Amino acid sequence: MLHSFDMNTELENARLVAVELARGAGRILMDGLKTMNADARVDFKSSAVDPVTEFDRKSEDFIVSQIRANFPSHAIVGEEGGEYAINKNSSHKWFVDPLDGTVNFAHGVPHFSVSLGLLVDGVPAMGVVYNPCIDEMFSATLGGGATLNGRPVRVSGTSILQRSLLATGFPYDRQTSEVNNFQNFINFKRNCQAVRRFGSAALDICMVACGRFDGYWELKINPHDIAAATVILREAGGLATDFSGNDAMFATKQAVVSNGLIHQDMLRVIAMK
Ligand code: IPD
Ligand code: CA
Ligand code: CA
Repeated sequence: MLHSFDMNTELENARLVAVELARGAGRILMDGLKTMNADARVDFKSSAVDPVTEFDRKSEDFIVSQIRANFPSHAIVGEEGGEYAINKNSSHKWFVDPLDGTVNFAHGVPHFSVSLGLLVDGVPAMGVVYNPCIDEMFSATLGGGATLNGRPVRVSGTSILQRSLLATGFPYDRQTSEVNNFQNFINFKRNCQAVRRFGSAALDICMVACGRFDGYWELKINPHDIAAATVILREAGGLATDFSGNDAMFATKQAVVSNGLIHQDMLRVIAMK
């Protein structure tokens, strides 16, 4: 482990590079969005509702090549390429979602993001989430605070679940699996102001970080979806745990994210049958 001064400098350097990579990937996606019409080619991955486009791949190729060029000793996991066959044992591991919100993108809906997270010794330490549709750049380093377009962000002060605006998502195997988040959705609908399903988990969490949403939850969610946004959320004063309230989101693939104030109430709703 580096001294904290060296670590701060290293993380800030990674953040600056990641911001530029997210902008570059955002340009690839915005160019691609113009071609997303009824004739556009879309392939399907894990299920008939899990799309991938050529722009997911182009964005990931660009990001991975640039991470390799800038940080040749780091490990990389990408949504499309999986764990790349370099530096697998490095203490520094990037989690790349080159296009978070592919369903929106494939339908021409302008709400998606590029998500770049860096874990150091397994700890989420730097995150960048960029929404190229409205040019919103969220970023954070561990201990360095979280910003939106350079301005510090902070979670909301809502302390009552009934007044809270929440977000969630559903897994791609929801049509065939009983572990589908449907009952949680019903239980939250009965206990909060409203629940949104916008289609980009990384942006959902960033919306909690900047106080627009008060909370978010999802199951079967992957590190490439949430690693970057988790740093931003925590640096903005929020809380991120698994469904049991533990710091094991990546292992359990469960995420409960909040402003901290409604967290226990959210966990109680999750525990309802
Ligand atoms: C998906 C989005 C969605 C969430 C899914 C994710 P993708 O990512 O983040 O909001 O509900 O669980 O898989 O496939 O668009 O990168
Ligand atoms: Ca994703
Ligand atoms: Ca994706």
